[in-house]
Amino acid sequence: MAESIYGDNLPQMQDVMKRLEDRISEIREELKKKYGSDPVEHCLSRIKSEESMREKCRRKGLPETEESALGVLTDAIGLRIVCAFVEDVYTIRDYLAAMPDCTVVQEKDYIRHAKPNGYRSYHMILRVDDAYFAEIQLRTISMDTWAALEHHLKYKKNPAANTDLLVRELKRCADELAATDMSMQTLRNMIYRDELPE
Ligand code: GTP
Ligand code: MG
Repeated sequence: MAESIYGDNLPQMQDVMKRLEDRISEIREELKKKYGSDPVEHCLSRIKSEESMREKCRRKGLPETEESALGVLTDAIGLRIVCAFVEDVYTIRDYLAAMPDCTVVQEKDYIRHAKPNGYRSYHMILRVDDAYFAEIQLRTISMDTWAALEHHLKYKKNPAANTDLLVRELKRCADELAATDMSMQTLRNMIYRDELPE
């Protein structure tokens, strides 16, 4: 069998991913106790497949080596945390940034600064145990639905005939969803403000 691009690191990578998953479960439990509801809708994690990692190395002009996969590229380990409300994304972000044995090496706030195509999410690259990188994507349910749809357009084998129209309409949807996310957040804040003791 051909050697893995991850060398013999897969067991340790699985372990790091499992620990991050467990940490996220603990954060959810803690916030559930504090606020009475789970701020996370769902959480996914994956080790990037051998094939995707090799394809990404080629695309980035990197040799297909362990050093490229684990030392240069930072998304061999990936987690996606999907929240109902925008403010929850930032709450979880703060908890993740405070984790011991993890350093935040990069953050991109594509929520405050959406990509031109309308993509919104909060990205963090963590360095775990000074050994492995992990990419965390945080987003709302609306942003998640949008990203899945846009992914279909981007990675479709035969480009759609009316791509210009699709790109324009996707951008419009992204902006409408962002406006609705804001309104929902405002409504939730109003509901909870009413529950505060007089
Ligand atoms: P790569 O996109 O992975 O080459 O790295 P980058 O340096 O551009 O990082 P970035 O933080 O922009 O993107 C990392 C990941 O976020 C991507 O691999 C996707 O999973 C996701 N992502 C970023 N931009 C988009 C987008 O426009 N649409 C969708 N659907 N996903 C995106
Ligand atoms: Mg990118």
